[in-house]
Amino acid sequence: MGSEKNVLMPAPAFSAGDQLYKYQLKLHIGGGHFGQVWLAHDLTLARDVAVKILDESMVSVAEHLNEAKVGNRLEHANVIHVHYADVVSTPSGRVVVIAMDYHPTGCATSKLNPSNFLPITKAVRITIDILRGLEYLHESGLYHNDIKPSNILIGPRGEGILTDYGISCSSPGLKPTKAPNAYILHRAPETTADGNITLCTDLYQVGLTLFRMISGVGTIRDIRNNLGKTKFEELKAKGKIPRKEDYLLFTPSSIARIITKATKPDPSARYQSALEMRRALEAISLGGYWTSDSTGAYVGVSGNQIFRFEEKKTKHGYQFSAYRKRLDSGNETRIGRLSGAKLTKHDLHKHTKTFMLAVVNGKL
Ligand SMILES: Nc1ncnc2c1ncn2[C@@H]1O[C@H](COP(=O)(O)OP(=O)(O)OP(=O)(O)O)[C@@H](O)[C@H]1O
Ligand SMILES: [Mg+2]
Repeated sequence: MGSEKNVLMPAPAFSAGDQLYKYQLKLHIGGGHFGQVWLAHDLTLARDVAVKILDESMVSVAEHLNEAKVGNRLEHANVIHVHYADVVSTPSGRVVVIAMDYHPTGCATSKLNPSNFLPITKAVRITIDILRGLEYLHESGLYHNDIKPSNILIGPRGEGILTDYGISCSSPGLKPTKAPNAYILHRAPETTADGNITLCTDLYQVGLTLFRMISGVGTIRDIRNNLGKTKFEELKAKGKIPRKEDYLLFTPSSIARIITKATKPDPSARYQSALEMRRALEAISLGGYWTSDSTGAYVGVSGNQIFRFEEKKTKHGYQFSAYRKRLDSGNETRIGRLSGAKLTKHDLHKHTKTFMLAVVNGKL
C-alpha cells in the first residue's frame, strides 16, 4: 500500500496544441502518480476547462472511470464537479480524459509564501471550506481519502475546493471500508494497521493538511525523513505527529488543539463529523497573521498595521525589538512594552512568541 510520490512527475506524453477528442491542450498544469492535468480548450463549447488525462500504465480504464463517475455525481461549491469523461484512443494507447472547471489560481500550494506556509487566516478559511465539502461527500456516502494541500483548488473567491477522487471510495451507510490506496504522509494509524478508512480517517487527513498549510507544506515529509519511516509511524500511532515543537511560534494553542484532536490515533477520540470539526474552527477568532517576505523575514499583518521584529545578540545578552507600521500614515514605531534588552535565549524566545501571538490574536 502507498502512493508516495518519491518519483518525478511523469513527463507529459502530449504537447500543447494536441487534440484529444474535443479538447485542445494548451498548458500542462499538474499531475501526479496516475496522470497529468492540462488547461485545455473545449472546441465544442468554446471554453477553457481543466482536463485530467489518465493512462492505463498503472490503473485500468474502468478504475479511472470510477474517479469520473464519483465527480460527476457531485454538486457542491467546495468539491470539484466533473463535466465529462471520455475514453480516447491515442497513438500511445487508450486514455481516460476527465473534464472539470478550470481554476486559474491552482491548488493551495500555489499561494505559499517564501517560507512555504499560508497565512493562518487563509489556511483556516480553506479548511473550513473543505470541511463543508467533506460534509457533503460524507452525506453522499463517500470517503475522499486523499486530502492534502495539492488536492485543494482555490476558487474565484479564494474558496477551497476539494479535488482528485483518484482513491476515493464509496461506502453507503458510511461503514468502515478498505482503502483502495493511501498517501503515506497522511495515512491515519487505522489505515496503517488494517487498511480501513472511516469518515474520521478523512478528518485525520484534514488535520495534517491544516498543520502543513500553517507550518510549511514540506514539514511532515521533513519530519518523516528525519525520524525514519519506522519511528514516524510509531509516533503517529501514539498521536504524536505533529509534535509540539513542529508548530511555528505564532500558532495559537486553540488551533494546535484542533489539529491534535483531529489526529488522535483512536478515531473515536477525533471529531465525529466534518461539521463538528468545522464548528470548532469557526469558533476561533483570529485578528491577524504572519507571513514571510522574499528574504524569508516574518511580516505580521493585523487590520491596517504591519509588524516586524529584530533579534540581536549584544555583549549583555539578546535584544528584542518589536515594530508596528501604520499603513495609513506609513509611520513605523518601536513597541517598547513588547521589546527588551539583556535577555537570555529563553527570554528572547518568550518575547518573540508573545509578540507574534499578540498579532495573531488581534491584541495590538
Ligand atoms: N480543475 C483544475 N484547475 C486548475 N488546476 C488544477 C485542476 N485540477 C488539477 N489542477 C492542478 O493539477 C494538480 C494535480 O491534480 P490532481 O490532484 O487531480 O492530479 P493527480 O494526478 O491525482 O495528482 P496527485 O497524484 O499529485 O494527487 C493539482 O494539484 C493542481 O495544481
Ligand atoms: Mg492530486
